[in-house]
Amino acid sequence: MYCVRKVTDDLYWVGGNDHRLELFENIHPIPRGVSYNSYLLLDEKTVLFDTVDWSICREFLQNVEHVLDGRDLDYVVINHMEPDHGGSLEEILIRYPNAQVISTEKSFMIMRQFGFNVDDRDLEVQEGDTMSFGEHNVVFVEAPMVHWPEAMVTFDTTNGVLFSADAFGSFGALDGKLFNDEVNFDRDWIDDARRYYTNIVGKYGPFVQNLLKKASTIDIKMICPLHGPVWRNDFGYLLDKYDKWSRYEPEEKGVMIAYASMYGNTEYAAQALATKIVERGVTNVHVYDVSNTHVSYLISETFRLSHVVLSSCTYNLGIYPVMHNYLMDMKALNLQNRTFGILENGSWAPKAGDLMEEFLDEEMTLMDVLSERVTVSSSLNEMNESELDNLADAIVDSINGVE
Ligand code: FEO
Repeated sequence: MYCVRKVTDDLYWVGGNDHRLELFENIHPIPRGVSYNSYLLLDEKTVLFDTVDWSICREFLQNVEHVLDGRDLDYVVINHMEPDHGGSLEEILIRYPNAQVISTEKSFMIMRQFGFNVDDRDLEVQEGDTMSFGEHNVVFVEAPMVHWPEAMVTFDTTNGVLFSADAFGSFGALDGKLFNDEVNFDRDWIDDARRYYTNIVGKYGPFVQNLLKKASTIDIKMICPLHGPVWRNDFGYLLDKYDKWSRYEPEEKGVMIAYASMYGNTEYAAQALATKIVERGVTNVHVYDVSNTHVSYLISETFRLSHVVLSSCTYNLGIYPVMHNYLMDMKALNLQNRTFGILENGSWAPKAGDLMEEFLDEEMTLMDVLSERVTVSSSLNEMNESELDNLADAIVDSINGVE
């Protein structure tokens, strides 16, 4: 059997979906599954653009065989050699012994490290190299660190199709709906696309900016990423999101309150603050318990919103461990350019506030910390009322641009 879709007259999607995998990269939850996209071009030469994760190799091979319909495979273009895409390459090479592999020098190095034998079948390409497969001419464009160093994208100058590797991808299985105009992306997909970008590629904003600059010089008619829907219109929407994410600019003015609470008292304080902010007219407020919200969601929301309140109890004279982990992730992903408020709690020696502020000041870039701090001693009391009011005022003024 087979499960394929036509992308253009002579280009087919031959990838697959996985709803069984719980954690992408064994870290990030993917409750909506994930797709591994691969594309097969039938020109004078037959060309496969990337392969798929090993977990769906069997159906992928059936798809390739069906679309080839008895023809041999001439080329495999490997835009990205991470195993979720390159994992089935060896099986393709075994089944199609005449196929040559087109990729970058670093990619071939990584292929060999993973134990794939491509000797005498490797065609190394560099930035700007071109190739003709018959009617279709392509140019190879290096895309280092989007999201591994070996990555490239391939642009078909004949029909304007960009094979964009990890760029413009998303978590989420396709479930039959291949194209962006077959889904309500802004309603059903954007949160997963943001969570995918921010957690997988987020660290490499300047490299994504380089790729966006290159992309702005070519006439793109379709974007074929390695995960998620194929884009055939509304490029402005997607490029605007990528531009903001990769410049670490918030998408929206709004407040995320991330709290770490052992017995509910810090949570109560976080809720009281949220209420006061909303009462002042800022309703784009979102409250998260860091203990039961996977950090990939916290990171995604932190990229989306302009203001963050870190609310943490003190634990072993330090920051609550799960909150600390969130901060470490933020740092690892190079997040910057946000405004923070601090709410701390401690029963005998509140330290979390100073330590969180120190982390933001010394470990991260371009983070503003508001001076209006809330310090709770065990549980919220009347003494905290004015502190909460002051912090709520400061956040709202900052959002409204009041100096
Ligand atoms: Fe989907 Fe960087 O691999």
